[in-house]
Amino acid sequence: MNTTQWSKGLEGVIAAETAISLVDGEKGKLIYRGYDAKELSLNHSFEEICFLLWYGRLPSHKELMTLSNAFRNDRALPEHLLHIMKQLPPEMSMMSVIRTLLSALEDPSYQWPPTIEQAIRLTAVVPTIIATRTAILKGKEPTAPHLSLDHIANYLYMIHGTSPSLAHVKALTTYAILTMEHGMNASTFSSRVIASTESDLISSMTGAIGAMKGPLHGGAPSEVTEMLHEIGTKEHTESWLTSKLENNEKLMGFGHRVYKTTDPRAEALREITGKLSEEDVWLELAYHVEETALRLLDQYKPGRKLYTNVEFYAAAVLKAVEIPNELFTPTFTLSRMVGWTANVIEQSIDNRIFRPQSLYTGEIPTP
Ligand code: ACO
Repeated sequence: MNTTQWSKGLEGVIAAETAISLVDGEKGKLIYRGYDAKELSLNHSFEEICFLLWYGRLPSHKELMTLSNAFRNDRALPEHLLHIMKQLPPEMSMMSVIRTLLSALEDPSYQWPPTIEQAIRLTAVVPTIIATRTAILKGKEPTAPHLSLDHIANYLYMIHGTSPSLAHVKALTTYAILTMEHGMNASTFSSRVIASTESDLISSMTGAIGAMKGPLHGGAPSEVTEMLHEIGTKEHTESWLTSKLENNEKLMGFGHRVYKTTDPRAEALREITGKLSEEDVWLELAYHVEETALRLLDQYKPGRKLYTNVEFYAAAVLKAVEIPNELFTPTFTLSRMVGWTANVIEQSIDNRIFRPQSLYTGEIPTP
């Protein structure tokens, strides 16, 4: 057996070929199917980039209309799902609720191989699950999906019960496009491993959601809001950050394992926050914290290549569009469904079951 390829956490190991995305940490680039994801996020709709990731090219106007209509038609929560949701204990986390309800959607049409129609159905229903559960937990009547709004606008509409502003829709769309896909991360890898057994798309998605639920993967932006909350005012920023750095603690929302220059997703999100209300006290604090933190990091950690990461501005954007902290990871899931499903479909086209080796470290019985 060849054991030379072993590395803990599969670090540095290539696990699959893909034409969906490239994460270039040195150049600070994220590419979706040959296009710069930052540009896509600022200039295209959520549905257009779904089409790009699923079909490999941008849609014509007619194709985009067809996809948008399919999303609208697949939004409603089937009656049996609503029934199951009402039985789930209130303390169950939203990620577990999404995982459970997607599981319960299974019918024979989801058999192998996975299709784009299945991907649309599963992606379309996630915002409805999140918004309906949120309403039920608050003891309110859930807001039914709006049939003339696009995916992201409809999500904001269902969460808040009112029509969202264009600036909020644009900001959340940028966030959602930038978080749709990001190379061979833990949840995407999980989804492809499940698909490689020729299991169904729903099983791949529930496995991916299980991986995303872990705090090492999907849980960071809420820590940024906690940090900003603790800092509280511009006046306290410098002393708060300095005391953390003096104690050798990490500042949330800075540094990245792969990006050793500015995270392109943070750049795009920063740009979009500039289009939100200039009067927003929260955003003003976020800008001030970023500026002060980068100056102090340079002073306390010279040469470490520490820049603002996606989590910092993800938190700023999600808070600005009034998504509560507990829905940060579910909202990330809502967009990552697109990347996961695209990966599973790609896996199915030239499938080979994943069957790596393990390095046995136990005893060998003596003969
Ligand atoms: N604040 C202060 N110092 C930092 C930070 C930070 N955010 N990040 C790294 N450093 C310092 C480390 O203390 C270390 O200093 P040293 O050389 O004096 O020991 C040096 O920079 C290298 O740090 P590592 O942890 O080895 O860098 P790595 O690339 O492995 O870590 C990580 C990346 C885990 C993201 C780290 O930067 C971090 O913990 N950041 C804060 C948490 C955060 O924002 N997480 C979200 C990341 S984005 C994402 O996951 C999608």
